[in-house]
Amino acid sequence: MPKRIKIGLIGCGMISGSHVNGYLAHPQHAEIVAVCDTVDANAKRRAAEVLSGAEGRANSATDEAKKAESAEARERLKENAARWTEYKDNGVKIFSDYNEMIKECELDAVSLATPPFVHEPAAVAAANAGKHVFCEKPMARTATEARNMRDACDKAGVKLAYQSGGTCLNPTSYAIREYVTSGKIGDVHYGRLTSYRVRGRPNVDMFGFGKWFLNSVYSGGGTVYDTGVYDINRSIYLLGSPQPATISGIAYRGMPPEYTGEEINDVEEFVSVFVRFTNGMSFTYEHGWSCNMAGQPQGIFIFGSTGSFSNDKLFLEKGKWETDDKGNRRRYQSNLVETPLELPDKHFPDKFRDFIDACSSDAQPASNGDIGLKVTEIMSGSLLSAKLGREISVEELYELEALRTEPTPGWPIPLGI
Ligand SMILES: NC(=O)c1ccc[n+]([C@@H]2O[C@H](COP(=O)([O-])OP(=O)(O)OC[C@H]3O[C@@H](n4cnc5c(N)ncnc54)[C@H](O)[C@@H]3O)[C@@H](O)[C@H]2O)c1
Repeated sequence: MPKRIKIGLIGCGMISGSHVNGYLAHPQHAEIVAVCDTVDANAKRRAAEVLSGAEGRANSATDEAKKAESAEARERLKENAARWTEYKDNGVKIFSDYNEMIKECELDAVSLATPPFVHEPAAVAAANAGKHVFCEKPMARTATEARNMRDACDKAGVKLAYQSGGTCLNPTSYAIREYVTSGKIGDVHYGRLTSYRVRGRPNVDMFGFGKWFLNSVYSGGGTVYDTGVYDINRSIYLLGSPQPATISGIAYRGMPPEYTGEEINDVEEFVSVFVRFTNGMSFTYEHGWSCNMAGQPQGIFIFGSTGSFSNDKLFLEKGKWETDDKGNRRRYQSNLVETPLELPDKHFPDKFRDFIDACSSDAQPASNGDIGLKVTEIMSGSLLSAKLGREISVEELYELEALRTEPTPGWPIPLGI
């Protein structure tokens, strides 16, 4: 049987349930051995859920094994049932301090499902102890924090994956990236991505979210950190992971109805950002939690010199010169042809399996620390540029982040800018 990666879950709030299900789905390859939360009740609830989830899966697999049509399927189901049954004997340890969990349990990896302000300290602590790290989005509040995480993991020789909604792990994204990076749509010089919610602000229009979502000290920012992060991640991946050079952003907060809760709400509700990359490409991104916008095309548009992508649709330019009777060129007649995308004949794991596989091989996770760092540079840079009212370079971004005054690591956007 293959070695199982021993996982310690840090943060047992809303999204941690998806981590529990994510690892339980791979009983031969991963085992949740401990959970940690500063709120005891949350840790206990998730630990109980790990045990009941494993027991339920073991029972179902045992029943299915009896009805399996092939010996191979029966054997696989029995092996999985045995692995899930082991949870009952091994139990799940509960901690309130992740440093203790990392010290006391023989973990291979931690899975971070805490609010963003805990991502950097917990990831660095885990990396320094030689543990691989899977981190929830957004990777961090600032580019400096993200760089610390990436560097600590690289230095320790451990893998850093971060949850980007599986935006890189599907045949279409893989194929688009291939077209972009192999020159099949010519010189890719520009990308544009737009995405909106009409009203979708956590704790204003949608309920049940942690109190930290609207406070930049804890979250890093609003719409761009919460949901924009997925789109920026996908764009960076599709464009071949170019390195941002300069960033120019504007941000807005002030959409009615206004937030009436007691917590601090200092985050942006809309962002527009223009990024120049070091390889000459550029990229515009518009995103809002709360927009009075209907009918506007949303998605990603990629501009190449011999073709383009309009979302997942590929267009190739097949035009030709019109000539006169003597064969002299008169004018170029464009012919933009929608062309079926060649999809790879390749299996794509889910994001947890992608991470688990990376932990036991030389491979990097598809959504890794290098991509997460570029995404965080764009997110942090967009809000800082908005605050300053001018374009900034990525070098300057790090200098400015170093100047920030504690305890406010975020970049609050004043009303009405
Ligand atoms: N809620 C969602 O729909 C959603 C979706 C995708 C990703 N995410 C991301 O997942 C992360 C967590 O979000 P959530 O919605 O689960 O938040 P949450 O507030 O529901 O849960 C966070 C948990 O972390 C715990 N925690 C805080 N500090 C801790 C520490 N130092 N050590 C251990 N535990 C600590 C809290 O007590 C809480 O139980 C965020 O980065 C968020 O952006 C959330």
